[in-house]
Amino acid sequence: MLRIGLIAASDRASTGVYEDRGTPALREYLGARITTPHEFVERLIADDYFTITGTLIDLADNEHCSLIFTTGGTGPSPRDVTPEATESVVQKVLPGFGEVMRRVSYNIVPTAILSRQIAGIRDTCLIVNLPGKPSAIAECLDAVMAAIPDCVATFGGPTIEMVPEVGVFNPHSS
Ligand code: MTE
Repeated sequence: MLRIGLIAASDRASTGVYEDRGTPALREYLGARITTPHEFVERLIADDYFTITGTLIDLADNEHCSLIFTTGGTGPSPRDVTPEATESVVQKVLPGFGEVMRRVSYNIVPTAILSRQIAGIRDTCLIVNLPGKPSAIAECLDAVMAAIPDCVATFGGPTIEMVPEVGVFNPHSS
């Protein structure tokens, strides 16, 4: 069973000021595309550096998630620390994910330039940051989903299969 961590980092959603819409959006997006049997491990937490690093480590090491998607906390405001927390728990940053997600997002909304989202590898887990806005989740993931199965396979993660519409790229198939 593929385990997928979903982390919503938001001071306001985690204290009940408003409803978390990021995690449901992620669950719906991924559930419609990943065909490998999977289950979600979800956490709604504050925009706090040590809470985020601790949660990422717990989901990767103890909960055995092979993929973790974070939503929120990628912007420039003082409490936005998700990229810093992610960078501190990965052995390798994969700059291409952030570059591509910002590029496609910038074509949709100029303020996409504000997102500092990154992705990286912790052992056999791929961690991808996404902005907090629910529409941004689909806009960003549409740009990188096709590369994720091969990415995870290259560092020893599990086989991940997706619906044909995603157009998963397999560099070894041709
Ligand atoms: N990316 C996409 N695809 N769509 C968006 O609407 N919003 C931007 C940006 N990236 C946006 C986007 C805005 S307004 C901000 S402030 C940053 O993401 C950071 O958002 P976050 O702090 O919720 O992570």
